[in-house]
Order: sequence, then C-alpha cells, then structure tokens
Amino acid sequence: MTAPSTPCALLVTGGAGFIGANFIHSFLAANPGCRVVNLDLLTYAGNLENLKGIEGNPSYRFVRGNIGDAALVANLLKEESIDAVVHFAAESHVDRSISGPEIFIRTNVLGTQVLLEESRKHWQSEARPGFRYLQVSTDEVYGSLGATGFFTEETPLAANSPYSASKAGADLLVRAYHETYGMPVLTTRCSNNYGPYQFPEKLIPLLIHNIVARKPLPVYGDGQNVRDWLHVRDHAEAIEQVLKRGEPGQVFNIGGNNEWKNIDIVNLVCDLLDERLGRADGENRGLITFVKDRPGHDRRYAIDAAKIRAVLGWEPSYTFERGIAETIDWYLANQEWVADVTSGAYRDYYSSQYGERV
Ligand code: NAD
Ligand code: DAU
Repeated sequence: MTAPSTPCALLVTGGAGFIGANFIHSFLAANPGCRVVNLDLLTYAGNLENLKGIEGNPSYRFVRGNIGDAALVANLLKEESIDAVVHFAAESHVDRSISGPEIFIRTNVLGTQVLLEESRKHWQSEARPGFRYLQVSTDEVYGSLGATGFFTEETPLAANSPYSASKAGADLLVRAYHETYGMPVLTTRCSNNYGPYQFPEKLIPLLIHNIVARKPLPVYGDGQNVRDWLHVRDHAEAIEQVLKRGEPGQVFNIGGNNEWKNIDIVNLVCDLLDERLGRADGENRGLITFVKDRPGHDRRYAIDAAKIRAVLGWEPSYTFERGIAETIDWYLANQEWVADVTSGAYRDYYSSQYGERV
C-alpha cells in the first residue's frame, strides 16, 4: 500500500548521532522543499560537527532537548506542522548498558513512550492522513543466532543485553500504539552499521582510532562472534523508503547479507591500514589483544532482508569492499573530528571499559 501523501515535514530525533546525521544529510539532499527539525540532547554521542554544512540550510532546524520532555515535543510537533517522526535518539552502546543500564531504560523505553504519546495526540488533533511514526530499532531485539539461520520479522523478541531489552521494550510500545490506537507506526530493525561519523566506542572506528595511535586492539572472547555489516547510507536510504512507502503497522528488517567474524574484520582493517599508513605487512595485526568477553555476548546476528527487497525494492548500494575502504579513508581524513569526540569524557570511558582488559 502506498502512503496517502508523502511526509515532508520531519521531526528527526537523535539527528546529531551517527545514523541520524547520515539520514538527515541524505534526506535533505534527496528531498528539496522538505523540512527537517532535529531534536537531540547532545549526549556524549551527539555532535553537531556531524551536521556540518547544513547548519545554514533554511530547510533545517536544530533543537537541543530531551525526547522525554513532553511539552517540548508537543510544541515542536505543532509549531512545525510535523507529518512524520523518525526516531533515532537512544543510548546505543551495549557495553555502556552493561555498566549502567538505567539511562537505557529512561531514554529508550520511557523517552520513546513520551514521543509516542505526544505523536498520538498530534496525529489525532487534526486530520493528518499522511502522518507516520517510524521507530528505528535493531536486530539485537531478536537475541542471538547459532551457526545457521536468519532473523526474519517473525522471529520472536529475545533480547539479551540491557540495551537490546530497552529497544525491545520500545518496539512493543510502538506495536501497542498501533494495535490500541490505530496509530500509523512503522518499525525498522537493522544490523550493524559502519561508515562516517560513528563514535569510536563501536568496533570499526575504535579499531581505526587505536591502529593510528598504535594502541592494543581489544577483541572480546575468541573473536568468532559474527556481525552482519551494512553501510550507514544504505540504512538511511532504507529508512526513507519505509517511511514513504511502508504500510503502517509493519516491521521491516534491514541488512546487507554481509556476515563477518569479528576477528576477520579486525584483520581486514589492520591490513588496509598497514597499506595506508605505510607500515610493514602484518604490523598492525601485532596490536591485536584478546580480552575478557562481553557478558551475555550475542554469538551471531544475520538478517533476512527478503521482505524489504520484495515489498519496497530496496537494495544496498555499497559493496563491503568499497564501503570499508571509504570509511577508513574518511576517518583518516577527519582526524580533527576524531580528536574532538575522543577528548575529555571519552578517555574516562576508555580507561574504565578497557583498563583491566588490555
Ligand atoms: P548514536 O549513539 O550515535 O546517537 C544517538 C543520538 O541520540 C545522539 O546524538 C544523542 O545525543 C541522542 N540522544 C540520546 N539520548 C537522547 C534524548 N534523551 N533525547 C534526545 N536525543 C538523545 O546512535 P546510532 O548508532 O546513530 O543509533 C541510532 C539509532 O539506530 C538507535 O536507536 C539505535 O538503537 C539504532 N540502531 C543502531 C545501529 C548501529 O549499528 N549503530 C544498528 C541498528 C539500529
Ligand atoms: O546489530 C545492531 C547493533 O549493532 C546496534 O543496535 C547497536 O546500537 C550497535 O552498537 C551495534 O551493536 P554491537 O554490540 O554489535 O556493536 P559493537 O561495535 O559494540 O561490537 C561489534 C562486535 O565487536 C561485537 O561482537 C563485540 C565486538 N567488540 C566490540 C568492541 C567495542 C570487540 O571485540 N571489541 C571491542 O572493543
């Protein structure tokens, strides 16, 4: 089913983070005449540098604030005549959820409930036939796979970390708003993203950052855990298509059929950086350090993206070979950005997270 009208006035939450910023860049470029209001609290993970180049764009407005602030959300929805909410804002790092789960419940569950409730009132306050609420969720809500099989949209939710439990809780609230109030909601569940503007607490930018500084590369457990990697711009494009053409109430898995064992990714990034940094073959692999495993570490993620391919015709455009090479080059060319985001609080995080491990 095609949406009755195409959403063009968007409230994007968490747009100063990794995926949100990439989405805003691509949405504004592809939809001249449309408007984006970016509501972001600017936590440690939010960075306005990620939106460089669009600050002066009259189709864009940044508001610093909390998704859990009902009055603020209500005002923005009304004064900007919002016809779609795209909800990225979250606490997003599994390791942080293990050392401090509370903020994950506050932001990801309670914050999402506030956003849903204000969206419902806004949607019901006047006829908004094209209104959409899109929940950006994750494949982690499905739990862990064994050596075979894939997550489909019908796989039962079986979250294992405080992070994924908070995302699963939010997903169920989104479902409830559809079942109970008939609210036009959509949910996307994507696999691991990589690309520009990712905070270097996540595996790929952390590896690049440490290799440049010749620091140990912490590999959790035996390094055999599998993740299914997708370029962030392909994720952004998929979200736009779901937003415009997805049938309300539906869930769409998003993934690029690109499974890698962690140790193979680590070796690949090491080798690509040997070449780029003019180091001897194998030099960077010498930095690899196996460390204590992440508690509850999910063994394998793998997305079956057949539905979004069949229903919406979405296909990833990046090969992994191209995407990872461009990503490494982006981080090397943007060392100032890396230095900015890893100053101050990042150092405290790094020593409390890895101090005893490496
Ligand atoms: P991120 O941590 O880079 O960015 C999160 C953003 O949310 C930051 O800008 C932060 O300031 C903002 N934020 C946090 N709490 C807020 C609050 N209370 N109010 C307003 N803003 C707040 O995260 P990301 O990697 O870009 O992930 C974005 C979304 O995509 C998340 O919902 C995540 O669960 C989901 N997701 C991520 C991946 C991945 O690989 N990174 C994959 C699938 C789904
Ligand atoms: O699958 C989607 C999810 O992908 C998103 O919902 C999360 O927001 C996002 O953070 C990501 O979660 P992961 O836990 O898979 O990503 P992370 O980059 O933290 O870890 C990837 C793999 O690498 C995982 O198996 C743990 C391992 N790892 C990670 C770090 C940071 C290491 O071995 N060493 C490390 O230092």
